Formats: sequence, structure tokens, C-alpha cells
Amino acid sequence: MAGQLDGKTALVTGAGSGIGRAASLAYAREGARVVVADVNVEGGEETVQQIKEAGGEAVLVHADVSQADDTQAMVAQAVEAFGSLDCAFNNAGISGGTDRHLTADYLEEDWDRVMGINLKGVWLCMKAEIPQMIKQGGGAIVNTASIAGLVGIRGTAAYVAAKHGVAGLTRATALEYASQGIRINAVCPGYIQTPLVQGIFDRVDGYQEEVAARHPLGRLGQPTEIAEAVLWLSSDAASFMTGHNMAVDGGYTAQ
Ligand SMILES: NC(=O)c1ccc[n+]([C@@H]2O[C@H](COP(=O)([O-])OP(=O)(O)OC[C@H]3O[C@@H](n4cnc5c(N)ncnc54)[C@H](O)[C@@H]3O)[C@@H](O)[C@H]2O)c1
Repeated sequence: MAGQLDGKTALVTGAGSGIGRAASLAYAREGARVVVADVNVEGGEETVQQIKEAGGEAVLVHADVSQADDTQAMVAQAVEAFGSLDCAFNNAGISGGTDRHLTADYLEEDWDRVMGINLKGVWLCMKAEIPQMIKQGGGAIVNTASIAGLVGIRGTAAYVAAKHGVAGLTRATALEYASQGIRINAVCPGYIQTPLVQGIFDRVDGYQEEVAARHPLGRLGQPTEIAEAVLWLSSDAASFMTGHNMAVDGGYTAQ
């Protein structure tokens, strides 16, 4: 059966875990050759192996998205490996670092780290990807924002600020490159069952149940539920979508 992304190359950052791994597998399932990028080589290797076991094609690229040299090299390696860059999922991110700490108590080093990866990292990735997509006559970019990019959440100010930044960056950049055939959208997940939030849940008793109850659907989301939205935004099925921040959040932001 023909896949939605047959013959295309998809690049995923933060592909060694959670949402990035699920999206990598979904891209591969639909026929894309996948560039698995992460700072976590072990996790990345596991994703590549899962793709290959399912009959897909993938390569691992070690890249820290907060470093311009890395993001430039990442795109160069993608093109070298597969000859094109058609879809990019700029997804790598870290949690707020000091969950449940108030703004006035937030450490400057945590602020800089969260901004460097979660916001500047998305910009550096797009800065590297867009020229290649222009050369090819178009492409589709999906950034990972969050419900924290749409509404405020207490105790994680830098994360919320960075994700609102991603939402704004997505809109602004979509306007700039629409005429060149590049669609740029963001996905805004609610709380998703991945190592990123599990670490926080493990530290605070009862927090997971409290967070699950904040979603009208009454549960956390699964990485595959985000991956399907990313796949759709990346595919021709979403050909009239650009500049949109799409909530996939069990109703969290509908309240
Ligand atoms: N899990 C959630 O509830 C949730 C909700 C909304 C948004 N998000 C966002 O989704 C994205 C993916 O998160 P996840 O939940 O899958 O987390 P995760 O921790 O399972 O995966 C994140 C991956 O990003 C990688 N990474 C971290 N810093 C990096 C860097 N500087 N360069 C390259 N790779 C880096 C990690 O090594 C890891 O493999 C993040 O941007 C996160 O903010 C997650």
C-alpha cells in the first residue's frame, strides 16, 4: 500500500525518546526515510533499530539543537544521507527544570537552559532547514510547542515563556515562507506519558492523578496520539494549513 510520505525525507529532533520516537516511527510507517536526531545517542539508536525492524529506513545524527553548528551539520547530514529534506519535526525539548518553582525563585541558569533548547533550538533548526527546503521548492515543518504555549501554567515560567515563543515563532515564520511552498505549523500537546513528565510525576506524590484530571478526557495522552497529528500536519492532507498551533490536549485548553 502506498504511504503518505513515500520517497520523502523526514528529520526529527529529540527522536530518541517519547513523542519524537513515536513520530519517527509514524513517518517511517508512511514511507519516509527518517533522520533521527538527538543528543541521546543510545535512545536514538533504539529508535533507528525500531524503524529498521519495521522495514523502514533511518539514520542517526548526533545533534544538540541549542548549538548552531550542530543544527547546520544535522541538515547537511540528512541531505547527504537521503538527498533531500521534505519534512522536519523540531521537537527536542526539556522540562522546566525547576518544576513548581515560582518565577521569582527561578534560577537564571535554568532559564537560559530552557530557553536555549526549547525556543532558540527551534529557531536554529528552522534556520538550517529552510534554505534546503527553498532549494527544493517547498517542505513542511512542524514544531513542538505545548499547551504551555497557549495558556499559562504555574511553577514553570521559563517553559511557558519558551513554548509561547515557539507558537509566535511558528506564526511569524509561516508568514515569511508561505509563498515559497513551506508550510510551518506547531503541535501543542497536553500532558503526554513520556520520560519528560514521568520524572516530575515520580518526584511528587499524587501529581500524576492531579494532572490527568485537568484534562476533560480524564487521562494523560500517549506519544502516538501526538505523532498522528504531526504526521497529518506534515502530509499533503494538510496542504492548506500553515501558521497554526494545533492543540492535541484531551480538551485541556477548551476549558
Ligand atoms: N510530555 C509532555 O507532556 C509534553 C507536553 C507538551 C509538550 N511536550 C514537548 O514535547 C517535546 C518532546 O518531549 P517528550 O515528552 O517526548 O520528552 P522526552 O524527554 O521523552 O524526549 C525528549 C528528547 O529530546 C532530546 N533532547 C533534549 N535536549 C536536546 C537537545 N539540546 N538537542 C537534541 N535533543 C535533545 C532528549 O535526549 C530526548 O530524547 C518537547 O519539546 C516537550 O517540551 C511534551
